[in-house]
Amino acid sequence: MSMTFSGQVALVTGAAAGIGRATALAFAAQGLKVVVADLDAAGGEGTAALIREAGGEALFVRCDVTRDAEVRSLMASVIDAYGRLDYAFNNAGIEIEKGRLSEGSEAEFDAIMGVNVKGVWLCMKYQLPLMLAQGGGAIVNTASVAGLGAAPKMSIYSASKHAVIGLTKSAAIEYAKKKIRVNAVCPAVIDTDMFRRAYESDPKKGEFAATMHPVGRIGKVEEIATAVLYLCCDNAAFTTGQALAVDGGLTAM
Ligand SMILES: NC(=O)c1ccc[n+]([C@@H]2O[C@H](COP(=O)([O-])OP(=O)(O)OC[C@H]3O[C@@H](n4cnc5c(N)ncnc54)[C@H](O)[C@@H]3O)[C@@H](O)[C@H]2O)c1
Repeated sequence: MSMTFSGQVALVTGAAAGIGRATALAFAAQGLKVVVADLDAAGGEGTAALIREAGGEALFVRCDVTRDAEVRSLMASVIDAYGRLDYAFNNAGIEIEKGRLSEGSEAEFDAIMGVNVKGVWLCMKYQLPLMLAQGGGAIVNTASVAGLGAAPKMSIYSASKHAVIGLTKSAAIEYAKKKIRVNAVCPAVIDTDMFRRAYESDPKKGEFAATMHPVGRIGKVEEIATAVLYLCCDNAAFTTGQALAVDGGLTAM
């Protein structure tokens, strides 16, 4: 059975690179118009160009998801360009810690919580009324396996991703009768710039990253994109409030 999409317009944040870029390309490959949002204008324009080269339709909008006014204006740009918002993938996120909890700084805490939690909250705050007004939609937020369990030496990141799941479940219940579904995707280690920054400096860590997953490798961005598209598509109409681990078996251990 193939995935079917009755909607026409998708928004992806953090779409200049990694998981966000792969998911933006995957939405476009299904014939959807895609709004690519990111802080990084060069990367974001690059994603939009890749979509256009493949025959799709895309618009890049620069947006810092930690700023209320920018997120509000992003949603206005989506409506101005395409008239509606059917699917939103709130995926922009950062990971900058490398120490034990007591070694973290206030600046790190505020930065991680700002993007990963406030960013997702602000996006949903301005997406939900649009979806409500048009009679439905689907939202997927990027959490992490670090949102389902402990992440030693990444306690702030772990707390931020637990918070994403809390926002996801609460919004899902609030809007369950309004034909708006809200789910989270929880990747384990995926081969992106974020992974390379965290692991590539130390080859032993890279090796450990592969072997810690029961399937014996890290994940691919396309494998997360597929899960996000599934959570958005019509076939997933009975699925809401879930935190779907896409993790090579890691959390089943
Ligand atoms: N790569 C992994 O192993 C992994 C695992 C679990 C979860 N995740 C999550 O997946 C998501 C995507 O990560 P990725 O691995 O593709 O990382 P990435 O660093 O390749 O991409 C993240 C994107 O978010 C953008 N961004 C950062 N701050 C922003 C802001 N304030 N406003 C708008 N855009 C902003 C960046 O410019 C970048 O393009 C993140 O939420 C991350 O926490 C990644």
